[in-house]
Amino acid sequence: MTWNPKSIVVGVDGSETSGRAAEIAAEIARSREAKLVLVTVVRPPEGWWGIGGAPPTPEALSAALVEGQQQVLKENEERLALDGVDYETVEELGDPTSRLIAVAEEREAGLIVIGKRGAGLAERVMLGSVADRLCHHSPVPVMVVP
Ligand SMILES: Nc1ncnc2c1ncn2[C@@H]1O[C@H](COP(=O)(O)OP(=O)(O)OP(=O)(O)O)[C@@H](O)[C@H]1O
Ligand SMILES: [Mg+2]
Repeated sequence: MTWNPKSIVVGVDGSETSGRAAEIAAEIARSREAKLVLVTVVRPPEGWWGIGGAPPTPEALSAALVEGQQQVLKENEERLALDGVDYETVEELGDPTSRLIAVAEEREAGLIVIGKRGAGLAERVMLGSVADRLCHHSPVPVMVVP
């Protein structure tokens, strides 16, 4: 079997751990000549889903939330040495686990790279909930960076 990924997806949420995940993802993309896809998912405020029945439009969300997440993409883009790497940044809205899987499927990713933990405030011994759910549900190989 050959592993010839078209793209490598990495989830970034502003945490240091996801920053390390992005570094590794960038190096894998570079060495495999695959596209690097930096993804950040804006999670709508708690309770939003049930209210109108339909997912909120980006416009409906507070501008600060969306902008904050754009900053996360920009910060990673600048920090990673990406010259010579084909990459794109993607901002999604919704549930981080399902959006990451959807983007990976759309981009025919050969790998999703994530951190073991993220920007959540809970001090955890185990995986964060996004990491945990991704490991359980992803149809694409997952790499978890401690
Ligand atoms: N909103 C997001 N957008 C993109 N990637 C994300 C997002 N949230 C988490 N990730 C990815 O998943 C990894 C693990 O984060 P996770 O959210 O599971 O941990 P946590 O924030 O510590 O815990 P929790 O969110 O359950 O409180 C992060 O390092 C990042 O790679
Ligand atoms: Mg989190």
